[in-house]
Amino acid sequence: MLSIKQAAIVGTGVIGNGWIVRMLAQGYDVIAADPAEGAEERMRRAVEQSWPYVEALGLAEGASKDRLTFVKDTEEAVKNADFIQENVPEVEELKQSVLQTIDKHAKPDAIIGSSTSGIMPSELQENLLHPERFVVAHPFHPVYILPLVEVVAGKQTTSENVDKAKAFYESLNMSVLLVRHEIEGHIADRLIEAIWRESLHIVNEGIATTEEVDKAFTHGAGMRYAQYGPFLTFHLAGGEGGMRHMLKQFGPALKKPWTKLEAPELTDELYDKVVSGCEHQSNGMSMSELDQNRNEFLVKLYDLVQEYWPKEQTAVKR
Ligand SMILES: NC(=O)c1ccc[n+]([C@@H]2O[C@H](COP(=O)([O-])OP(=O)(O)OC[C@H]3O[C@@H](n4cnc5c(N)ncnc54)[C@H](O)[C@@H]3O)[C@@H](O)[C@H]2O)c1
Repeated sequence: MLSIKQAAIVGTGVIGNGWIVRMLAQGYDVIAADPAEGAEERMRRAVEQSWPYVEALGLAEGASKDRLTFVKDTEEAVKNADFIQENVPEVEELKQSVLQTIDKHAKPDAIIGSSTSGIMPSELQENLLHPERFVVAHPFHPVYILPLVEVVAGKQTTSENVDKAKAFYESLNMSVLLVRHEIEGHIADRLIEAIWRESLHIVNEGIATTEEVDKAFTHGAGMRYAQYGPFLTFHLAGGEGGMRHMLKQFGPALKKPWTKLEAPELTDELYDKVVSGCEHQSNGMSMSELDQNRNEFLVKLYDLVQEYWPKEQTAVKR
């Protein structure tokens, strides 16, 4: 039986704030910690800006922005929490040390989830006193709109605690993907990274600008990927013969050098091209305006995919 009364967030950057909004929207009390100067003000601003979108998606009974407390110290945030989500920067030594602090000060049966994009859970739980309650729970930005969370157990995580973590994320109206084999980058980031590497190669080699690469994605494959993933998309691309025909026709192309696989060197020149390209594409919009614009789009898309996704992929509406 899931009895989470108090959730704690450690690290209130992009992802930590996203979790806060999702948890508040689903009716939890949240306590957050971040030692950075101005962190509380940034967190409260992020909650204000995101709230209209979670309202549009539907709030759980009793959900309120007022049920959020901020403290400077991790120890203070986690001591009474039943569920703790860690979201500090993707630096393994930092994560190890913050997780050890959380583990030491949290109740022994509190579950700890880490938002790490690529580090394996067995590595992160190695030096914990209670490694059995640790999972990786990798979300997607913006966490308060996108429903997917990849849950990965480490070698020392018990299946009972995986079940508890899964139940908690489901109570946040999320779609849980249990990753059965731990691997760097889990599942989704391996896919995203492949597209990212190729995008950087194309810009680096002067084949296209950042704007052209983005268009190549959003006006074609990107639109269909919100409904079907790479497999069903290619099944359909095979026409009447489906995947059988598709593999026959395009199978040999897999051996052609369409992709570069290794990431390009991030030289100063490539850095400048990518940064100035994105700034040009922003068309004078501030980051906050771009963020709101993306959110409006995703809220509409969310409603659409609820109608078209196969049933088991649909997050439960509360
Ligand atoms: N940005 C994304 O799209 C994304 C998506 C999924 C997962 N993640 C993962 O989420 C984690 C956080 O990424 P982010 O993009 O939010 O980073 P971020 O830089 O926006 O935020 C990190 C926050 O952690 C705080 N912090 C640093 N040291 C701390 C400490 N000792 N104790 C408490 N807080 C501390 C920082 O002050 C900052 O506010 C990373 O592991 C990342 O891989 C990121």
